[in-house]
Amino acid sequence: RDVLGSRGLGDVYKRQLYTLLMNLSSAMGGMVQMPLTKCLYHTIIIWYKSFGKRRNTERRICFSKVERHDLDMIKDVQKKILQLKKENDICILAHSYQAKEIVEIADITGDSYKLSVEAQKVSNKNILMCGVHFMAEAAKMLNPDKNVYLANPSAGCPMAEQMEPEMIEMIKAQEPDRKVVCYINTTAALKRVCDVCVTSSSAVKIVKNMDADKILFIPDCNLGAFVKKACPEKDIMLLQGGCPVHASVTKADMIAAKTAHPDALVLCHPECIPAVSEMADYVGSTSGIMNFAAESDAKEFIIGTEISIAEHLQYRFPEKEFYILSKKILCPNMKLTTLMDVYKTCEGIGNGGGFEIKMTDEEITSARKCIDEMIRLGG
Ligand code: 13P
Ligand code: SF4
Repeated sequence: RDVLGSRGLGDVYKRQLYTLLMNLSSAMGGMVQMPLTKCLYHTIIIWYKSFGKRRNTERRICFSKVERHDLDMIKDVQKKILQLKKENDICILAHSYQAKEIVEIADITGDSYKLSVEAQKVSNKNILMCGVHFMAEAAKMLNPDKNVYLANPSAGCPMAEQMEPEMIEMIKAQEPDRKVVCYINTTAALKRVCDVCVTSSSAVKIVKNMDADKILFIPDCNLGAFVKKACPEKDIMLLQGGCPVHASVTKADMIAAKTAHPDALVLCHPECIPAVSEMADYVGSTSGIMNFAAESDAKEFIIGTEISIAEHLQYRFPEKEFYILSKKILCPNMKLTTLMDVYKTCEGIGNGGGFEIKMTDEEITSARKCIDEMIRLGG
C-alpha cells in the first residue's frame, strides 16, 4: 500500500502490474530507470481509471441494465425508422424529455419553444411528434397543411387540461382590461380564449413586451410567480395550476440534494415551486438549463427538471457530473412514448394509420391567434 497508495481488490492487479514493470526494467539491465517505470505505471493506472469512469458514467445514467442484444435491437429498430422516415416523407420532432433512443433518431429536438418555432420551417409532408398531445396540437396549428401525428395517443399533459375555457371567460367578463397569457402547455380549446401564448423560455420577454399592465397568467402559478418576480412593473394575477411533476419537489428535497453534493450548481425549471427555485443558482427553461450546463466551467450540477435532461447532459459531457434533484421529477406522460411507438407510427403513416391530429380550420385559426401574437412580440 505504501507504493500503491490505495487498498481494495483492485490493488492485487495494481501490484501485479507494478511488479511486472519493475521486472521488465531490471530484465533490460536497468536501462529503464526507476522514475520512468513509476511514471509508466501511473499513466496506465490513470488511463484505466478514466476508462472505468466512462463505464461507470454510462452505468449511472442507464435506468436499467441494457444487455448487448438489447442495444443491437434498439439500433435495428432505429435503422428501420430512419428508412421509413425517408420512404414516407416524415419529420420527427422530439421534446428533450424523451428517451435517448428517440432523441437519437429525431430531426429536431429541443424544448417546447424550439419545437414550436422549428415546426414552422419543416418541408416534409408528415410531422411526427414525440412528446405530449398539446405539442402535437401546436405543431398542427403552425403547419395546418401538413399531416401531424402523435407517436403515443395516450401521452397527455395534466397541466394542459387543468383549466376550463368557461372559467377564463368568466374572469375576462369581470375584468375586460386584464389580458390572458397562457403557457404553451394548454389545450387548443383553452388557447382560443387567451390573448397571447408563452413558452418557459419566452415568458418573461413576452410579458415585458406586452402593452397591457394587467395580466392573468395561466395555468402554471409557479412559472407565473417566476414571471411576476421578473416583471414587478405588471399587475399579474395567478390561479392554482401547475405541473404535478415539477411541483412535487419540496424544499426538503432541495436541501437533501445540496447536502449530498455541496459543490454542485443547482439548475432549476421555473415549473418548480418558488421555495425550491429560490434556492437554485440558475432558473430557466429546459434549453436554458442545457445551455447553462454546457457553457459553465463548473464540474458538478444538480438538475431540477425532468430526469431525462440529466441523462442527456451526462452523455454529452462525460467529464462533468450531473445529479437529479429528486427521483420524483419523472414525467410519466413524456415517458409513455417508446421507440416501438415511433416505429409503428412511421409504418402506419405509409398505410393510412398512425394517430393523426385532426382540427377544423376554424379551431386552428381561433387557437393560433395567441401563438402568432407570441411570435409578433418576439417569442
Ligand atoms: P419547456 O420545454 O418549455 O422547458 O417545458 C417543460 C415542460 O414541462 C414541457 O412539458
Ligand atoms: Fe406536463 Fe409537467 Fe409532464 Fe411537462 S413535465 S408534460 S408540464 S406534466
